[in-house]
Amino acid sequence: MNVLVTGGAGYIGSHTCVELLNSGYGVVVIDNLCNSNPKSLDRVRELTGKELTFYEGDVRDEALLKKIFAENDIGCVIHFAGLKAVGESVSIPWKYYDNNLNSTLVLTKVMKEVGMMNIIFSSSATVYIADNEMPLKETSRTGGCTNPYGWTKYMTEQILSGIAFAEKDWSVVLLRYFNPIGAHPSGRMGEDPRGIPNNLMPYITQVAVGRREKLSVYGNDYPTHDGTGVRDYIHVVDLAKGHVAAVDYACKHKGCEVFNLGTGVGVSVLDMVNTFREVNQVELPYVIAPRRPGDIATCYADPTKSREVLGWTAQHDLADMCRDSWNWQKNNPMGYGE
Ligand code: NAD
Ligand code: WQD
Repeated sequence: MNVLVTGGAGYIGSHTCVELLNSGYGVVVIDNLCNSNPKSLDRVRELTGKELTFYEGDVRDEALLKKIFAENDIGCVIHFAGLKAVGESVSIPWKYYDNNLNSTLVLTKVMKEVGMMNIIFSSSATVYIADNEMPLKETSRTGGCTNPYGWTKYMTEQILSGIAFAEKDWSVVLLRYFNPIGAHPSGRMGEDPRGIPNNLMPYITQVAVGRREKLSVYGNDYPTHDGTGVRDYIHVVDLAKGHVAAVDYACKHKGCEVFNLGTGVGVSVLDMVNTFREVNQVELPYVIAPRRPGDIATCYADPTKSREVLGWTAQHDLADMCRDSWNWQKNNPMGYGE
């Protein structure tokens, strides 16, 4: 069976392509390369020894989507394609709503027309309301997003769950990722953000490799064990394997299901800094800076449902994530760009 991977040249998508191919699925990718490099797909081919089919283009292009479905026997879609920079979404909201919502509307329109209605969507823990009790369950309260990016994830969940409610032939799986970090253990694939990294781990690795002077720790006065922000970091390879489990599930079930993809372990910024230094034996200068607006103190998952229903559990620990992130960055100081 072939899986259509939208945004498959991206960080999580490319790692998922590896696991799909290694699991015996065929892979077809559509990606407009607005935030990725096609070299990532060459590395997928290199690491798996298998071919994949790549269409460069926009998921909002209805004619291209129809061409892809006509030329390939697609059994499931994983919809990664989307813009994901929280801060950018605040300054250019229309672009985020257009890209992230219209890509889903056009994709599901074509899927309905061709009669293939199994879709897995990249959602995010950002859809949870900030003052939920921890750990977050799939039944924890959602909405009240604090930025347009988060609203696009919330709204897309509403679109897809509404379609599944109205039309019983759909299988919709909403995967709420927590904080994906790490890289393929080969060091040949990894996260390659453009410009100044917003997220913690790519900023850390760029400091360690000498591209940035020092890390700013955004606040040490949160109500946490060491005052710094606590998150549920999950290895990108574990996340990718969660998508393979979700494809298996989507092909056997109808309706809409939500799953948290996290470890269930809360890790602070200073836990991350200290583990990274210790595991990799590298210098990592940092300063304590003011809190970043919009940040919450603590966010981590209850991954019970994914374990019990998908049969999936994260296998990598924080040391693995720090080791693999550094292995990628030190072997690719400029990412795929060199
Ligand atoms: P990424 O930017 O590396 O990958 C997204 C890919 O989609 C890129 O290759 C980009 O070129 C492509 N793309 C974007 N809009 C497109 C369009 N209209 N048509 C075709 N291709 C398009 O991001 P990622 O970290 O791999 O995230 C993948 C998905 O997971 C995103 O939807 C993101 O919102 C979601 N997510 C990411 C995180 C995270 O921390 N990385 C957390 C939760 C959810
Ligand atoms: C993690 C912790 C920061 C950078 C974001 C999005 C979320 C999802 C995952 C897409 C926080 C601290 C960070 C730095 C720091 N993306 N930090 N210095 O904010 O939990 O989630 O990425 O769906 O939607 O909001 O991840 O990596 O930005 O921050 O101290 O230079 O690291 O304050 O406590 P976050 P992050």
